[in-house]
Amino acid sequence: MRLLVTGGLGFIGSNFIRHMLAADRRVRIVNLDLRTYAGNPASLVDLSRNPRYRWARGDIADPKVVDRCMKGAEAVVHFAAETHVDRSILDAAVFLRTNVIGTQVLLDAALRHKVGRFVHVSTDEVYGSVARGFSREGDRLEPNSPYAASKAASDLLVRSYVVTHGLPALVTRASNNFGPYQYPEKALPLMITNWMDAAPFPLYGDGRNVRDWLFVLDHARALELVLRRGRLGEVYNIGGTHSCSNRELIERVRVLMGVGPELVRRVPDRPGHDRRYALDCAKLKSLGFRHAYGFTEALQATVDWYRGNEAWWRPLKKGGVYRRYYSRQYAARLKGRTSK
Ligand code: DAU
Repeated sequence: MRLLVTGGLGFIGSNFIRHMLAADRRVRIVNLDLRTYAGNPASLVDLSRNPRYRWARGDIADPKVVDRCMKGAEAVVHFAAETHVDRSILDAAVFLRTNVIGTQVLLDAALRHKVGRFVHVSTDEVYGSVARGFSREGDRLEPNSPYAASKAASDLLVRSYVVTHGLPALVTRASNNFGPYQYPEKALPLMITNWMDAAPFPLYGDGRNVRDWLFVLDHARALELVLRRGRLGEVYNIGGTHSCSNRELIERVRVLMGVGPELVRRVPDRPGHDRRYALDCAKLKSLGFRHAYGFTEALQATVDWYRGNEAWWRPLKKGGVYRRYYSRQYAARLKGRTSK
């Protein structure tokens, strides 16, 4: 299978590419990735001599580049996106450009090139906060952050191409991913890497927000299944194995790493902070999906990975892009901090 993957230098995309190349010797992958701050060639350095893999640097919102990369592709798996909620609150423009316009450019190219399957990778955040129960694929979309709104817009764009143009596309909506190669602005790698340096983790609000944790390698397996066996035109939720509050997550990681409670600082909340996400995954299970990784082992493996791969994350945290973001995002919050 000749696959075009977009955003394959990012966290989930890079794990997916490695998974697919190992799972099936017939798979060949072109990875179209702009290498933004969150895309890191070091995440796939082990594939640099693999004849079945090629990285093409370029922007998904550029129709010429997309056209070149789409040539000969039998299927597309579309990860490329701006994904960090806090950044979308600081500045939404690039989220609209990449997540919405970029998706439209890809969909048009997929039609022209008569691609056999197009998997659009999305998020549970499009459903908004759910006080109780579980979000199902047909539920209303009620996104609350600019990031979530841009993903909801792109999901609806995919739907419109299915209905209007008969594009053979599918949408997946996953919960919070964790694992190796995640950029250290997200809660879990931020926590682990800050604590390795005895620096505090800034906990937003009361810490009772609930997330459903999905190990990235299980996500990669679920995406392969949807790519191969999902019904065209359908949406599939991909949830994790452990739903918990941020406080519980922090306590677990604190115990694993042996750090004291003084390394948790309560800071003012994220504006519009969704209280709870929860997915009903019956549809995915009906395709035969079962998680392969338990939460406890996967969390330990993740902590071990960051401990063993300082050469991967330290340069990111030392870089100007990260430092500017970190001070803009946290300086005021840490100043007006409340105690735990
Ligand atoms: O649910 C899927 C989504 O999960 C993805 O679509 C997003 O791309 C991904 O970023 C993630 O969104 P969250 O906002 O849930 O993830 P984040 O790692 O930013 O935060 C997880 C929780 O931790 C959330 O309740 C906010 C809280 N948090 C986060 C950061 C960065 C803190 O308390 N302090 C922090 O410094």
